[in-house]
Amino acid sequence: MPDWATVKDVLVHLIDPWAFMSISFAHIPATVVGLIHDKKYRTLFSFSGFREALFGTFWATVGPNVKTNAEQRVIPLLQGRVKGGVVHDDVLSSPIHGTVLEVGAGSGMWADVFARFRENADDTDAADGLRNRKSTGGHITKMYGVEPNPISAKALQQRVKDIGIDDIYQVVPVGIESVDDSTAWDGKIEPGSIDCIVGILCLCSIPEPEKNIKLLYRLLKPGGHWYVYEHVKVWRGGLLLGLYQRKSRLSWSRCP
Ligand SMILES: C[S@@+](CC[C@H](N)C(=O)[O-])C[C@H]1O[C@@H](n2cnc3c(N)ncnc32)[C@H](O)[C@@H]1O
Repeated sequence: MPDWATVKDVLVHLIDPWAFMSISFAHIPATVVGLIHDKKYRTLFSFSGFREALFGTFWATVGPNVKTNAEQRVIPLLQGRVKGGVVHDDVLSSPIHGTVLEVGAGSGMWADVFARFRENADDTDAADGLRNRKSTGGHITKMYGVEPNPISAKALQQRVKDIGIDDIYQVVPVGIESVDDSTAWDGKIEPGSIDCIVGILCLCSIPEPEKNIKLLYRLLKPGGHWYVYEHVKVWRGGLLLGLYQRKSRLSWSRCP
């Protein structure tokens, strides 16, 4: 007798990429209208510019739902309560602290969570899922939000201001490839200067991930920490699921 709950779960996950791609296409008209309204005609007629604008519009709608589903894993991850991909009750590794780089920060969906980890944040109660934070000393003193999409970077700047962390959160409006290039933006992140890197669902969007992961790694201090929440290669389900994932990825990577 099949376990119907698992079957349903698998089916939902199989449909997910196609649902996402359909929602992305459905945002094309709103993106066109937005660009015309903002008189950004050059972006309208540039493939890469339009793609970026479409992603910004799409993620503004989809991001909050994705975050709601991800919180149950991402918050424990930042608290140091995840080991071997499993959430534990106790703190087992270093919670997020010090100088933090958020890679592919998007429109700042996670800024409210980071605010609760900042140094001198009000003490938290058990109900918000951040218990143990103070007792383990996890706190953020400075943050860089690396986000090359101009629409998302602008929204990110506003979001950190609204949340009240703009005094410690600096938006870095370039790709990860250029964070140490002071001619590309108004600043420079030195290699070996970052305590913790956070990457939430961003490696699927970042070009040349292997090269850029190495670049990111160089930014970490020796013994620094990297908190990763990503889509991963299917590892159970045999050849068929692996093949399905590879085939969907072909469309996914071409999808605007
Ligand atoms: C799927 S979104 C996730 C956004 C955010 N982490 C969240 O969970 O809401 C991926 C982000 O990576 C950004 N990105 C794309 N290329 C990048 C690069 N070269 N360096 C840094 N971020 C990049 C995209 O602009 C996008 O905002």
